[in-house]
Amino acid sequence: MMLRRWMAAGLVAVATAGVLNAVPAAAERPYDPTAQSLRALGQRHGLYVGTAVDMAALADPAEPRYREIVRDEFSTVTAENVMKWESLEPTRGTYDWSAADELVATARRNGQKVRGHVLVWHSQLPKWLTDGVADGSIDNTELRSILRKHITTVASRYRGRIWQWDVVNEAVSDPWDTPSTLHYKGFWAEHLGPGYVADAFRWARAADPTALLFYNDYNIEAFGSGDPANDKTQFVYDMVKGLLARGVPIDGVGSQGHLGTQYGNYDTLQVADALHRFAGLGLSTAFTEVDVRSRLTDGVQAGDSEEINPRLQASAANFHVLLQACLAEPRCLSFTVWGFTDRHSWVPGTFDDPPQGLATIYDENYQPKRAYQVMKADLIYAGPPYVRMRATPKPRR
Ligand code: G3I
Repeated sequence: MMLRRWMAAGLVAVATAGVLNAVPAAAERPYDPTAQSLRALGQRHGLYVGTAVDMAALADPAEPRYREIVRDEFSTVTAENVMKWESLEPTRGTYDWSAADELVATARRNGQKVRGHVLVWHSQLPKWLTDGVADGSIDNTELRSILRKHITTVASRYRGRIWQWDVVNEAVSDPWDTPSTLHYKGFWAEHLGPGYVADAFRWARAADPTALLFYNDYNIEAFGSGDPANDKTQFVYDMVKGLLARGVPIDGVGSQGHLGTQYGNYDTLQVADALHRFAGLGLSTAFTEVDVRSRLTDGVQAGDSEEINPRLQASAANFHVLLQACLAEPRCLSFTVWGFTDRHSWVPGTFDDPPQGLATIYDENYQPKRAYQVMKADLIYAGPPYVRMRATPKPRR
């Protein structure tokens, strides 16, 4: 008996030694979460991890890494520019769908969802539209019907293929605007009044009964400017609450998440509180455009690690705060970064005086930064009871 047990143990030892020396088949390898992609790790929580896509980079033969990372790391994509009105209808009455169609087709091939961005925004409007309004050849009655037609045309074309639509983007002012009292800002409010917001959601719903319809804005990551009358998050909260009370078909609030390491920003509890309060209205939420930029001081530009390291760490810490807060709220459906590499980021082109950059999770050579590792860790070391599977909301009628 003893001998048989000893022999059996010996056989196991020999077999184990063999296994240790050989490369195990993939199925036998222990699961290593750190080797998983962001999209795979997000899936554990039902969370979609996304990126904005620069279609020029995606099509560039010299940029294979760009395409690979889009495909491998993300489960939802957003057009950084090509679904905006100036791209879709550069000439009145003539739509150019090519780049937007390409994004949707790529997403389908990659098994990704699409966030539609954007149906109504005061920026990147076609020149024929803004010129026509400026010279009086388009009056406000016609403008309203042009807006309705645009929303209907675009939302109908992609009906069934868009997961979340940013129906209205950045409709609300910031405390640093003039006048400083929060108000509905921009081209559409000036010409049509704030009622265009409700109209836009109703028109979008009529054209696409299947998409989740979002209001999307920046500087709404947390409540608490101290003065509720000047708190943009509170203004947006009151706005969407009012829309719901009037039966407007809004499904969610997108919090863009454009942050900078030079500012005070927030902690996880503040951000989670904001997401919980929107969820309390019955709305989904999403982080839709996350990046965390830094000042490119002379030292940073000269490669001084004492100046670079704290910025990379602060950037990563802010990605962590937003992602951890999102994980804590089951109605936070997706976490999208606004470009994933410093090689193709809107930040340096927009903030050049003083220069800013380092805003994304990969460097210019497609090396993952601290922020990428932090996102991974957040997705790995999270679970019940405080991090639960995402809700699967149905579009509101
Ligand atoms: O297409 C032209 C190109 O023909 C020309 O050669 C080039 C020269 O500058 O400009 C190109 O257009 C640029 C366009 O991006 C496409 O690259 C515009 O100048 C540039 O202003 C535009 O910037 C975009 C910006 O929205 C416009 O406001 C950024 O890429 C885009 O990341 C940014 O995205 C917005 C979201 O939609 C809404 N939330 C804020 C976010 C960041 O601003």
